[in-house]
Amino acid sequence: MASVPQIDLDNLTTSPTADEALEEWYKRNPPVADSEANPWDVSRAELYSKDLWRKPFAEMRATAPINKVEGGVHGDFWNITTYKPIQHVEALPDIYSSDVSHGGITIAEPDFDDSDFQLPMFIAMDRPKHTGQRRTVAPAFTPTEMKRMEDEIRQRTGEVLDSLPWGEKFDWVDKVSIELTTGMLAILFGFPWEDRRLLTYWSDWAGDVELSCAEDLTEQRRHILYEMGAYFTKLWNERVDAEPTPDLISMMIHSEHMRDMDPMEFMGNLVLLIVGGNDTTRNTMSGVAYGLGQFPEEREKLQQNPDLIPNAVQEIIRWQTPLAHMRRTALEDHDLFGNQIKKGDKVVLWYISANRDEEVFPEADKIIVDRDNARRHLAFGYGIHRCVGARLAEMQIRILLEEMHKRRMQVNPTGKHRRVHACFVHGFRELEVELSKY
Ligand code: HEM
Repeated sequence: MASVPQIDLDNLTTSPTADEALEEWYKRNPPVADSEANPWDVSRAELYSKDLWRKPFAEMRATAPINKVEGGVHGDFWNITTYKPIQHVEALPDIYSSDVSHGGITIAEPDFDDSDFQLPMFIAMDRPKHTGQRRTVAPAFTPTEMKRMEDEIRQRTGEVLDSLPWGEKFDWVDKVSIELTTGMLAILFGFPWEDRRLLTYWSDWAGDVELSCAEDLTEQRRHILYEMGAYFTKLWNERVDAEPTPDLISMMIHSEHMRDMDPMEFMGNLVLLIVGGNDTTRNTMSGVAYGLGQFPEEREKLQQNPDLIPNAVQEIIRWQTPLAHMRRTALEDHDLFGNQIKKGDKVVLWYISANRDEEVFPEADKIIVDRDNARRHLAFGYGIHRCVGARLAEMQIRILLEEMHKRRMQVNPTGKHRRVHACFVHGFRELEVELSKY
């Protein structure tokens, strides 16, 4: 970790939040006016913060499901908007690369200014390296491990729900989505409980595509991410010579695949797990409250028949799609259903649109808690990079719905909310709700 500067772990940065920094940045750098923008440049963050993304995607799916945008906010790229071609691209990882050296996994270009700063993560690696590193963390997500964590997650979820005020307005994102997600990650990593909100703070700074492109915030972002690195280095050092414990950090340290992983890779993969497990689960939990509030008849169906909960979990993940896209880069020329993709082209897989593909999901804009193919959603991706934490996320959302049902808790959004301003993470910054009994 020679490249990490001296960090004072007793005085870690906790403000501004990534959101606040970005808001200020947008005041200095206003986005392109709607009237001047290419309507199919769906990388514009305001389409998501203003909830205007459905129309352009529906048009593309109907008329040109695979199309090329030139001169978009993040340069030239191919939009892939329907179900089948996304699966097809993901099934060809030797042609469509995830590797950071070719461009990585988001529509924004990676920051190549300082190669020391690039943390290697297996989500942004191709085979064969990806395979070995994924194997290091996969054992933490087996059904046996999930069973082991279930009681603790259930207890924690119950405590959070029991602390909520009834008949009073409060922010569901802050009190439930963030609280439960950081709690789950703290359990998974054996992360100090009192510091768990740092996980949200860091994840927001690390995972925001728009922030990673805001040049004058680069230094600030780096500093915060170095602090995160230093914190995890300390945790690692504390555990490296200790007896193995069941948390993920210790599991990775003692894994046989660790022998092939250098410290930067170890750190990169930890960060990947934090970011990967953070915004995603958080925004699905917000989707639980907001989405069911949009479809009260479906909510009632679920309240009357809790056996539908596991299916509803899949349906809410489909409907919310907390990561709107993943990106690939073509390593060779390729004919993709009649479209000539050229070597080096950026190919953006819009899960948010594929999960609205009416040929696969009729009445796709609606939550239907007993939809018979809800499980087919692409929100976790597909193929060799399919989300390694999917089981954990599903379990958490299922437990949340089960514990809400036990308490006959109905969550009523008041209509006041603020969405994330981003084309990658899709969700809510704030969501005001009031609870009632059913
Ligand atoms: C990969 C979504 C929860 C860790 C991914 C991918 C997506 C995704 C779209 C990329 C798939 C691809 O490229 O084909 C989600 C969603 C979640 C969620 C929607 C919650 C609802 C989690 C959790 C963790 C996690 C809880 C861990 C704590 C990862 C990791 C990868 C990944 C490590 C990289 C896998 C690889 O490259 O092999 N996730 N995720 N995710 N996710 Fe998740």
